[in-house]
Amino acid sequence: MSRRILTGITTTGIPHIGNYFGAIKPALQLSCEKNVSSYFFLADLHAIIKQTNPNEIKVSVNEVALAWLSSGLDPEESFFYRQSNIPEITELAWILSCVTAKGLINRSHAYKAAVQLNHDHTKDEDKGISMGLFSYPVLMAADILMFNSSHVPVGNDQLQHLEITRDIAEKFNHQYGNAFVIPEAIINKDGKLLVGHDGRKMSKSYNNVIPFLSSEKELKKAISKIVTNSLEPGEPKDHSSCNLFLIYSAFASSENIAEMKEKYKNGIGWGDAKEHVFNELNSLIIPLREKYLELKDQPHYLDEVLALGAEKVRPQAKELLLKIKDLVGISSIS
Ligand code: TRP
Repeated sequence: MSRRILTGITTTGIPHIGNYFGAIKPALQLSCEKNVSSYFFLADLHAIIKQTNPNEIKVSVNEVALAWLSSGLDPEESFFYRQSNIPEITELAWILSCVTAKGLINRSHAYKAAVQLNHDHTKDEDKGISMGLFSYPVLMAADILMFNSSHVPVGNDQLQHLEITRDIAEKFNHQYGNAFVIPEAIINKDGKLLVGHDGRKMSKSYNNVIPFLSSEKELKKAISKIVTNSLEPGEPKDHSSCNLFLIYSAFASSENIAEMKEKYKNGIGWGDAKEHVFNELNSLIIPLREKYLELKDQPHYLDEVLALGAEKVRPQAKELLLKIKDLVGISSIS
């Protein structure tokens, strides 16, 4: 059976190795399978919910796009576009909002967490919560349903958004007739939650990321910051509770992981262990970094790629939107 996979990355911040190993790499692997068509996009409309610095948004759109392309995305073979270039998505999001129960979105984790934070600080519960933040899952549903995607590779933290998307699609189909494919989530098999250098989830919001396509020097610096403990070289170390080991096991081969476990038992010093992690990660990244620098040097390349992507997907979006408008009764009068 053919599958249509679709996934997006919010364009806030500079891509980190969690984005690469947790999202980009597994999605590109899936896209190489037989009978798979792939839709990958830059979620810049989601980005402006949290990021209010226009310049940082611009930089991030560029960096996330280059990260996909340097990692092997082929813009001829797949559909690669920028969300804000496809206005039909926003139009669909409005139509979907009109069939979405407010109560469904009230239960969204991200929104509930924001309300809880206000309660904890004894503030008005709506303080700082925009309609964009509240409606985030509806826009995400529009992203997914717009292109009839059957499978959506996401991290665990996005599972609820997939459930909400399915609920919205089912409600619409029930009310107006079958229009939407009901998508399924694909959770990255390893399900490894990549931790940052402080042991929390690697996230731009925690400022604990290990950058992906930075210089060797920056990569080395980020790895040196990974928090370990005060055991001396020669003292046996426990890999199971170690951030450095967890990060290593997100990309190393199973043989190398087994070897590293031995090294821990035999008391490898933290400096040596970090050097080891750096060398291996860096050698994986070298060819991608080269490609990144090469693409970055071609000023019009990204514009062209994204224009091509919009040109390829907009006719599909227009066609689906016409059908949806017709179903809800707002198509052309004649
Ligand atoms: N919410 C996703 C994230 O922050 C990004 C995203 C937006 C997305 N729309 C999507 C992912 C549609 C998959 C499908 O990680």
